[in-house]
Amino acid sequence: MSEAPRIVLLPGDGIGPEIVAATRRVLEALGEFEFDGRLMGGCSIDEHGTALTDEVLDACRAADAVLLGAVGGPKWDTTDPEAPRPEQGLLGLRKGMGLYANLRPVRPSPALVAASPLREERIAGTDLLVVRELTGGIYFGDSGRDGDAAHDTCEYSVAEIERIARVGFESARHRAEGSGRAPRVTSVDKANVLETSRLWREVVGRVAPDYPDVELDHLLVDNAAMQLVSRPAEFDVIVTENLFGDILSDESAMLTGSLGMLPSASLGAEGEPGLFEPVHGSAPDVAGQGIANPLATFLSAAMLLRHGLERADDAVRIESAVDAVLERGLRTPDLAAAGESPVGTDEMTAAVLSELAA
Ligand code: IPM
Ligand code: MG
Repeated sequence: MSEAPRIVLLPGDGIGPEIVAATRRVLEALGEFEFDGRLMGGCSIDEHGTALTDEVLDACRAADAVLLGAVGGPKWDTTDPEAPRPEQGLLGLRKGMGLYANLRPVRPSPALVAASPLREERIAGTDLLVVRELTGGIYFGDSGRDGDAAHDTCEYSVAEIERIARVGFESARHRAEGSGRAPRVTSVDKANVLETSRLWREVVGRVAPDYPDVELDHLLVDNAAMQLVSRPAEFDVIVTENLFGDILSDESAMLTGSLGMLPSASLGAEGEPGLFEPVHGSAPDVAGQGIANPLATFLSAAMLLRHGLERADDAVRIESAVDAVLERGLRTPDLAAAGESPVGTDEMTAAVLSELAA
């Protein structure tokens, strides 16, 4: 690429601005980028009355990649159906940018296994990827109030299921490359109750023969939730619809003991910009104190480099630097065990920058 890649930064709300500013410094240590900071979420509601303006959506569509901090906070919490909500900005971006595939890798950092709520022998070896369908299902179906009732509708088409199933199979293949182990996809649905799930299971089964090297099994979502805590290390790729993916990815994230460590990528059609963001939220309770954990956003920037800019080497440099600072014992308050003295956002960032310079 001759010109510097253009990255739209959407710091958002709560700790978002702090962790995105830190991540910008990490990216700057790796090369030239053109950054374009924009408002999205609660901050945009305050300024423009809507969580996502057309102008910001257009800027995101025209960028090479988008890096998001977090959106939302108690200031904008409401059950009034007419009032704008920060989350609408995120949903608007997903739909407007066509980001149908959400990748949420879960791999506990070896230095942090003790932070897991699960016993070490249970969590050991866990390395899974949740592939969540992101632009369909109940999130985007017809919804509304009818007198004293309300409804949300779940709809899926064959085409929507097929394209996310392919992302699941391809990801499993890619992850297993050179590892000597057989790739596996677990498709999660509620086919014993829901018609959309029966279609889901049928279509995933129909796509599977195109990937004869990938093992496929199907789990009902309630069973999957249980298996995730009882035998997490046996999962490889989990592919599932929007709402189940929302729930199972938080459950998977907690397996590692720190939601504060996990990155995500939301991808659309080949060649279109992706959106990269930490899985954790805006943490309004710690915002503005200089103690937010920036590591999940650094790791999201690594996903941006790998999936968005095809710079896998730079991605690995960030990931190794994060591993190294954890090995050295640096912990932000959310990661610190009793008796460990935590560092703040700046100190953590400086440590990662010095690893990158080493
Ligand atoms: C997520 C979040 C969002 C979702 C919210 C903020 C709308 O929970 O990215 O998982 O439900 O998709
Ligand atoms: Mg969620």
